[in-house]
Amino acid sequence: MNSSKKFIETKEYKRFEEFCDTCIQYKYIGICYGLPGVGKTLSSRYYANWDKISDQIDYNKAKNIGDNATEDIKAAHTIFYTAPAEKATRISSDINTLGYRLAMTKQIYQIKMNEMEENYDTISAFSEVELIIVDEIDRLKLQHLEQLRNIYDQQDVAMVFIGMPGIEKRLSRYPQLFSRIGFAHEFDNLSKDETHHILEYKWADLGVDLKLEDFSDYEAMTSVIKITKGNFRLIHRLFAQIDRILKINQLETITVEVVEAARDSLVIGI
Ligand SMILES: Nc1ncnc2c1ncn2[C@@H]1O[C@H](COP(=O)(O)OP(=O)(O)OP(=O)(O)O)[C@@H](O)[C@H]1O
Ligand SMILES: [Mg+2]
Repeated sequence: MNSSKKFIETKEYKRFEEFCDTCIQYKYIGICYGLPGVGKTLSSRYYANWDKISDQIDYNKAKNIGDNATEDIKAAHTIFYTAPAEKATRISSDINTLGYRLAMTKQIYQIKMNEMEENYDTISAFSEVELIIVDEIDRLKLQHLEQLRNIYDQQDVAMVFIGMPGIEKRLSRYPQLFSRIGFAHEFDNLSKDETHHILEYKWADLGVDLKLEDFSDYEAMTSVIKITKGNFRLIHRLFAQIDRILKINQLETITVEVVEAARDSLVIGI
């Protein structure tokens, strides 16, 4: 993989975006579930513009608050939070801190740009937050989920919980939380057509150290599509193996045999 790897706005991403927008519109809790590697985390971060925003609101990364802020901060309204694998008791305070820093950084930036008068009274942890996306929701036990319910009940925000398939059933065992869930959304694999489209037209964005011309024929490409079944993580892993096999065997072209050898060397059974 190289640095040209980019987020690709797939159809599944567009559906996810629409799902988040709808949760905001109705101020609902939504659950989004999907198999590992389909792109749930990356899509959530992209929706929240989190690569940029998390940096800009990180007090440790700036001498003064707002030093790193850019125009992006003005449109920021979503917090992306990964449920911790341990010490889940601090979820509320973690989310509060993120919300507060978002509001503070936004205001300081706008004051600096002369777009706003100083008025720190209006700042609270949720004054600028419309949506909180919580990733890895499967990690949380009931007592920890209660912290999220509490935030939802007290604040005027929407939430999206991201988890594995089956999470909707698990959450249904907690009626108080479940009754607040407005929508469920399945994050699916890429379709065959879209995988094909990406391989052919978005090749550069995949950031793979190979060239599209390296494919020997259409069949070799079709076998990549068949093996990966539109799972983004598998696509990347398969290409890493293909690259390795080409190098080891000093080959120049990606043939069906190369693709199959790459598949066989992947650890997981597919
Ligand atoms: N839209 C996209 N554009 C480019 N690459 C993507 C995209 N979505 C996913 N990927 C690639 O697939 C990998 C897996 O995506 P991601 O971590 O978001 O999956 P996930 O659904 O959150 O999986 P898990 O359930 O294991 O957490 C990413 O590291 C990235 O390389
Ligand atoms: Mg994930």
